[in-house]
Amino acid sequence: MGNATKYENGVEPFKDIKSDIKVLEKISKLKDKLSDKIIILGHHYESDDLIQFADIRGDSFKLSQEAAKNKDKEFIIFCGVNFMAESADIISSDFQKVIIPDVEAGCPLADFALLPNVEKVWNEINSIVKQKIIPITYINSLANLKSFVGKNGGSVCTSSNASKIFDWAMERGKKIFFFPDKYLGGNTALAKKIDKKNIILWKRNKKLGGNSKEEILNAKIILWDGYCSVHKRFKLEDVQRLRKKYPKIKIISHPECNFEVIKNSDESGSTGHIIQAIDNSPDGSIWGVGTEQHLVNRLQEMYPKKKILSLSKNGNQCVTMSKNTPEKLLNILENLNNGKIINQVIVNDEVKKYAKISLERMINISANSVNRRFK
Ligand code: 13P
Ligand code: SF4
Repeated sequence: MGNATKYENGVEPFKDIKSDIKVLEKISKLKDKLSDKIIILGHHYESDDLIQFADIRGDSFKLSQEAAKNKDKEFIIFCGVNFMAESADIISSDFQKVIIPDVEAGCPLADFALLPNVEKVWNEINSIVKQKIIPITYINSLANLKSFVGKNGGSVCTSSNASKIFDWAMERGKKIFFFPDKYLGGNTALAKKIDKKNIILWKRNKKLGGNSKEEILNAKIILWDGYCSVHKRFKLEDVQRLRKKYPKIKIISHPECNFEVIKNSDESGSTGHIIQAIDNSPDGSIWGVGTEQHLVNRLQEMYPKKKILSLSKNGNQCVTMSKNTPEKLLNILENLNNGKIINQVIVNDEVKKYAKISLERMINISANSVNRRFK
């Protein structure tokens, strides 16, 4: 920490409260002691103090692949948000148990789409449209939606494979019903040059989502009206301000950002893609990054010879990811060491059966096609 680069925007980004060194030492010791039984997975938005203990770090897609691959450890400790831990429980072996440091670490974007509401809209659309519709859910969704999609011939997608999953769906149906993130769905459709008039938004609390029957019949993509409040805070003016100050800057943004931000970015992709793109760039490169601040801070640490700025003046933090802390990880490990399992994430068997179909479908479709670009 402490290089001048990160304050270029005028405001010092937040810093996590550092954990007591004794806590970190205890985690290290217990992690070693339990190493035959546990694997720790960590998402890029977690704090440095926490993610240093992850055996594998990644974006949502990589972490779901790893949960499917690592079949030998009894406990998967997931330092990420709930939907990620649920996906791990769905995709891992029956004898494995998934544990999360804080069960309250949810994703507000996922909460935008609840099963009864999605089913209601699905039935309304199907009462008008007599052609095949493929439902796709962003992995940032509750397990019962992944199950719904599995039952109805659809797939899960992540920000790293949405493009490929859209191709797969468009080969099989006339329309895609996408939830919960209107921006990931819309940005993916726009990158495929689907005409704006064939992309409709199903607005909350409006008759037919605020659309006419004709608009629904003509639509190729029907988007749920949800968004990530962290990424929504990045604005077109942020892109313009940085471009003015640094004419050579490259803007890279997560596809949960709004349409204007993505349209005016040089690149867009998952957290894994953002890291890769910056890693591949030469020293002296200047980057404006539209994603969560923990990752931006980490990139600044990793690449001191590159200038890396958040698109936002304040740095946008995902508060729910930050609910997971080293202290809570230690609590889990101490309990495991005493033979007690706490904070286990369990998806019920009926939901799991069909959710597994849609998650495995995604993994199979996207084999060989990770980290695709939106632009
Ligand atoms: P990634 O899959 O790109 O890591 O995104 C997860 C997420 O929640 C972004 O807000
Ligand atoms: Fe959910 Fe947004 Fe946080 Fe990602 S950054 S976990 S989408 S709230």
